[in-house]
Amino acid sequence: MRMYDLIVKTREGQDLTRDEIRFIIEGYTEGSIPDYQVAAWCMAVYFRGLSKEVTAQLTMAMVDSGETLAWPEFGSELVDKHSTGGVGDKTTLVLVPWVASTGVKVAKLSGKGLGHTGGTLDKLSAIPGFRWELNRKEFIEVVEGAGLAIAGQTGNLVPADKKLYALRDVTATVDSIPLIASSIMSKKIAAGASHIVLDVKVGDGAFMQELSGARLLAETMVDIGVKTNRHTVALVTNMEQPLGFAVGNALEVREAIATLQGKGPKDLTELCLALGAEMLLQAGRTADLETGRQLLIEVMAEGLPMKKFRDLVQMQGGDPGVIEHPESLPTAEVSKDVLAARQGYVTKIWARQIGLIAMDLGAGRQRLDDVIDLAAGLEILVKVGDRVEEGQTIARIHGSTKSAVKAAHTQVMEAIRIDDEPVAPLPLLLARVSR
Ligand code: URA
Repeated sequence: MRMYDLIVKTREGQDLTRDEIRFIIEGYTEGSIPDYQVAAWCMAVYFRGLSKEVTAQLTMAMVDSGETLAWPEFGSELVDKHSTGGVGDKTTLVLVPWVASTGVKVAKLSGKGLGHTGGTLDKLSAIPGFRWELNRKEFIEVVEGAGLAIAGQTGNLVPADKKLYALRDVTATVDSIPLIASSIMSKKIAAGASHIVLDVKVGDGAFMQELSGARLLAETMVDIGVKTNRHTVALVTNMEQPLGFAVGNALEVREAIATLQGKGPKDLTELCLALGAEMLLQAGRTADLETGRQLLIEVMAEGLPMKKFRDLVQMQGGDPGVIEHPESLPTAEVSKDVLAARQGYVTKIWARQIGLIAMDLGAGRQRLDDVIDLAAGLEILVKVGDRVEEGQTIARIHGSTKSAVKAAHTQVMEAIRIDDEPVAPLPLLLARVSR
């Protein structure tokens, strides 16, 4: 078999066989196929796509490129949730304790943020003492003891994706649906999930900008799940504006705590209810989505999700005092309010730009070895559709120096548009894809 022929075949839109896909992935992982040939192949995939069958083959070849995890300790049903990434997306921090407080065990492997989107592990690092580097034994102990755990991935899971993702990043081939779908699903499958709930984000702050593309990505991932015997359901959700108000690590933990106390932003609470009901259904805890939703509302009224969050923090070495005293979380040296320059209606919040401003303030990293400022970030206090008065505080900036905060101030003013004519609030849940 020659890589050259497989590039031609893909370029001409012909399906590759299972063996041909495995030849590419194995050869690239071990180094016998060079970057330039795989880059050309990725570009052929970008323009020609791959059939659903071949995308599933690609996913499994990637899974088999490294170690895989299994969790017999948790029984056969391990529900996992994955977001394709967005701005202010602290869903995991709320959803995991909330679902766990209904009695379902949730063992979540999460990642760090990169670029304009944040990562759950960075947010948890804002809690003094919190340890997410758990070995397998510790991870199991925490889940058994507290009913939930959130940890970083260990081991050599999907090495093919590490190489391929880095190559796609520099060859303008990241936003290809079969390549994104196989990248995400290979990691979920290798990490041992039997039931997968996907939050596919669409809009300015997400990878996918158009609903049609996001829906196709969701369908492709659900199809991979079906073909590989993983129960998979996807919600396509709006990322045209940041989720909740806070963007930045300690700020997002504070907002997650408020949400777990039933005092959080409406959009974040609603998204967690929708995803939580899907997780309860997948876990067999409830028979339909409405019952799951009601159960989540009931446990919230009893204050159980907050108790679960406390258990999680305590079991993973963190200071549970932050729950009663969120002001003890890292706080920025300099803060500044952004005031509306005019009255009118908020018609646009550039989510991607907000994520990039937060990153420049130190809340995110451009390279994996960058050190982040846990206190830095933004609060965007308005939503599209809101009426604002001149001089009203529409955002707050948190940074380490006056000059950084000043630079961010101008950028935030430009990222929030106010017009005379009202617009409708943005819908949150755009589609549900299942089989
Ligand atoms: N997230 C991933 O893990 N992979 C992609 O290709 C895109 C988003």
